[in-house]
Amino acid sequence: MANAIIIFIHVMGAAVAVGAGAFGLLFLLPQARLREKDGAPDETSLTYLLMDRLAPTMFTAILVLVFSGIYYMMENYTDQVNLRDGYYNILGVKLLFVVAAFFFSAYQTFMLKPDISNIDLQPERRQRVPEVLKKMETTGKAALAAVSLAVFVGIYLARY
Ligand code: HEM
Repeated sequence: MANAIIIFIHVMGAAVAVGAGAFGLLFLLPQARLREKDGAPDETSLTYLLMDRLAPTMFTAILVLVFSGIYYMMENYTDQVNLRDGYYNILGVKLLFVVAAFFFSAYQTFMLKPDISNIDLQPERRQRVPEVLKKMETTGKAALAAVSLAVFVGIYLARY
């Protein structure tokens, strides 16, 4: 039962990370960009609102994945003598994608997002908004790609 709950949380984390990322970056963002074709996005734009909310959403989901994944391994520690050869090689490949996803998402949430937050307090940063939003789009897509690959390797691992 405990395993089912932990894997449920793990899979829900994956669903939120990939679902929110794909919906936001591949579906909503192009629509939001269409509305801004006359000018660069500012801090009142839909693009800004979307990226401002999406970055911490994906980061939280990735944190949930990391904690639930580590907890699952700790919970099943004594079973690890029965694992097939090569299990940890596949886990290692998966963790490379996890590290990449974590890095991109953390950079987006803790470096890029604060750079264009509270514009009313520091209006001189307003001109950086379009450039930073573009970077957030790129790092968001990189995080989404890494999480999606981690999902694939995770599913492969569970059936190995
Ligand atoms: C971006 C982060 C991650 C994603 C998207 C992800 C995704 C997944 C998926 C989709 C599964 C398959 C569940 C199933 O079909 O039953 C899985 C299983 C698993 N994950 Fe993750 N995971 C992530 C991070 C981690 C981390 C950080 C760890 C541990 C260090 C971890 C350890 C595991 C383990 C032990 C399993 C079960 C494998 C088995 O049944 O033998 N995951 N993961």
